[in-house]
Amino acid sequence: MLSQENTPIFDALKNYMNENTISFHVPGHKHGRGNPEFTEFIGKNAMNIDLTIMPDLDSIMNPTGVIKDAEALAAEAFGADRAFFLVNGTSSGIQAMIMAACREGDKILIPRNAHKSVISSIILSGAEPVYLRPEINEEFGITMGITLNEVAGAIRKNPGAKALFIINTTYYGIASPLIDLARLAHDNDMAVLVDEAHGAHLRFHESLPVSAMEAGADLAASSTHKLAGSLTQSSMLFLKGKRFSPGYVKSILNLSQTTSPSYILLASLDVARKNMAQNGRNLMSKTISLAQWARYKINAIQGLYCMGSEVLELYEGFTLDPTKLCINVKDLGITGFTASKMLREKFNIQVELSDFYNILAVVSIGDSKSTVSALVKALSNIPRHLQGPNKKKLPPVPDLPIPELALLPKEAFYSEKRRHPFKESAGRISGEMIMAYPPGITIICPGEIITGDIIDEILMIKEAGGLIQGMEDRELKYINIIK
Ligand SMILES: Cc1ncc(COP(=O)(O)O)c(C=O)c1O
Repeated sequence: MLSQENTPIFDALKNYMNENTISFHVPGHKHGRGNPEFTEFIGKNAMNIDLTIMPDLDSIMNPTGVIKDAEALAAEAFGADRAFFLVNGTSSGIQAMIMAACREGDKILIPRNAHKSVISSIILSGAEPVYLRPEINEEFGITMGITLNEVAGAIRKNPGAKALFIINTTYYGIASPLIDLARLAHDNDMAVLVDEAHGAHLRFHESLPVSAMEAGADLAASSTHKLAGSLTQSSMLFLKGKRFSPGYVKSILNLSQTTSPSYILLASLDVARKNMAQNGRNLMSKTISLAQWARYKINAIQGLYCMGSEVLELYEGFTLDPTKLCINVKDLGITGFTASKMLREKFNIQVELSDFYNILAVVSIGDSKSTVSALVKALSNIPRHLQGPNKKKLPPVPDLPIPELALLPKEAFYSEKRRHPFKESAGRISGEMIMAYPPGITIICPGEIITGDIIDEILMIKEAGGLIQGMEDRELKYINIIK
């Protein structure tokens, strides 16, 4: 009988290594001997367990051995019926969820602040996106969650939609009312798909927002690598209930999954799962306390405001992951970009991200009182490093309408395009995607009609020093439009 003590993949790798088998198989570095410089740096153990599919180690395409066992333990630990290990990040899980739920032309409800992998998945599946407008917080200049009202309205207008896609939580730690949203979607015969790139730890503490599997989602893609301790690129896809057959989901994963997964990544998932299953609650209690301590200290520093649960009073049913420290630096008269640069250059601290008004510091199971104290200390020193009075007022957060869809994203992606001056592109169909921070929203997607208002807003954000991303011409003098 397997238990959460066990690590089937990790054990099989160590067994293979300890048997000193003479390998006549790939990888060709053969336990590191073929790449001595790298082996010396990374260590012999890492190279020894960099193995590939073989009978002792199972196959990710059709697991029947140690991968199957490790996935079963992961499903149990994360509260799912099935878990699938992923070696191409949560992006590949998002692709599989959307392709499992939608065929060509099917409608899917999607928050406009979704990650770019969601737009890629829409292109691949040929689905028709129906965008949901997230709430926007003016003070922080960021997108929040999706309200029940917003989804109810979208369902009324699109009764045949096949799925609801929800982000749990956003990058900044904001969770939408997932239990109610899942119930509403199911009552309308829609699948519930959840992007849990920032939610792998949620299941392990009652003070955190509810996890997708607990909230009743059908599928959830979770970045174990971001917040549950496994190596970068390693994620899991969870399935619960009867709406999707595990065999079908697996066959979709197999369409694009490598046949040579890194066993270092797979083993890291196995051991991270064991750690979270056995110690997750304690680890998360400690992490939450550290983050709350930092929040309290940061809020005592003049000119800084670290978001806390008080901001949720403005929104019904939203919850906050307290381990995310979204620190507003607006009152120092600098942008988050500047604050992030100062932290890196003067205090040797790298934050997760910065935007116009904020920096985002992630506190995780890898932190300690000393790392968090270093952050607080550095933040308290920022005002001293500013030259002169900083009373620059940052511009307000734009709130843009969602443009009209002229072509499905897939049709737009495969259509012929040409470069066109951006400023003169009103009325044209966009061939590419443009994201803007603030507020972290896709302003234009392939297939949508560009308007004069959109051009003005994008230029205003750019002029004010905001971040405009996604398009081919980084200067945005030109945009690719559909011919
Ligand atoms: C909200 C969100 N979804 C999905 C992803 C993709 O996850 P991964 O990097 O594991 O592919 C990210 C990555 O940052 C993300 O922020």
